[in-house]
Amino acid sequence: MLENNNRSYIRYSWFLMGMVFLVILAGGVVRMTQSGMGCPDWPKCFGMWIPPTDASQLPADFEKYLSKQDIDHSFNVFHTWIEYINRLLGALLGVFILGYLVWTVRKFWSTNKKLVGIAFLLLVAVAIQGYLGKVVVDENLSVVKITIHMIGALVIAALPLININWLSPNKFKVDGLIRHGTTIMIIVLLVQIILGTQVREEIDMISKSLAYEQRELWINRLGNIFVIHRSFSWIVLLGCMGLFIKGRSIMGFASHIRNIVLVLISIILLGIIMAYLNMPAIAQPLHLLLASALLMQLFYTRLKME
Ligand code: HEM
Repeated sequence: MLENNNRSYIRYSWFLMGMVFLVILAGGVVRMTQSGMGCPDWPKCFGMWIPPTDASQLPADFEKYLSKQDIDHSFNVFHTWIEYINRLLGALLGVFILGYLVWTVRKFWSTNKKLVGIAFLLLVAVAIQGYLGKVVVDENLSVVKITIHMIGALVIAALPLININWLSPNKFKVDGLIRHGTTIMIIVLLVQIILGTQVREEIDMISKSLAYEQRELWINRLGNIFVIHRSFSWIVLLGCMGLFIKGRSIMGFASHIRNIVLVLISIILLGIIMAYLNMPAIAQPLHLLLASALLMQLFYTRLKME
């Protein structure tokens, strides 16, 4: 039986992971609505801690900020507030993680330093991520940094799972093939996510060159990386199906791998929708969110193996 106060600690760890997903989703909404440069400076927004709700409240030197924007060079309250809420969520996550570290130190310092180590790493990772957020803004959302930023978010989401696993008693008994197969699939999926991020970077350039309009032209202008990303899905799908077939009768593992396959199919469907239905904006953050969730599912399943 789990100790009662371990249970609330575990619940909080899940909550943290959920918060990371919310921040990833908020980032996706920022991009979907082209609000990235809604706050041209960082950490403030138009030099203010609480951004304007009307153009009349802009500071006298507002041109200085607007000149950093990549498209319209005008104040758009909708973009500004979407970007600002995204930042607030990020900052809130930082505060929750600081609270997590304090809680972990007080609770486990004398009994389980591994948990403290992970909570500390989490704080370091979120600090680096916040710094990268600034660099991304400074360099007008430069593309390589966006990929690193994405990987950082995945690391932050994954760390609480390590602590959850250390405190959870139920594990799966699986053979070496499934264990190694799952590890390989985590690596394969990471490669697919990085490929996807490259496609996203191309989409960013294409959409910008078309003033974020004419969505029907975006996919056709993509280069080889899109074909590689699309075809690579087969490897991910076949690998996960293989794990499903091999492990479908293993207690505990079976339901995990079934959910993994279902999420994977949804991601692929969203990809197909983007490719054949002129990139509906809503599919973009969903594709990203589910891809991140899939990686976490695989990682957690691997952690639970004995
Ligand atoms: C294993 C399956 C897949 C995974 C894990 C995956 C993952 C990803 C990820 C992580 C991104 C980056 C999203 C972002 O940074 O916002 C992405 C982008 C993209 N993927 Fe996939 N993907 C998969 C399959 C597919 C398929 C089958 C297609 C099309 C047939 C597709 C089309 C796209 C497109 C068009 C983008 C650019 C989206 C954007 O600009 O928002 N993906 N993918």
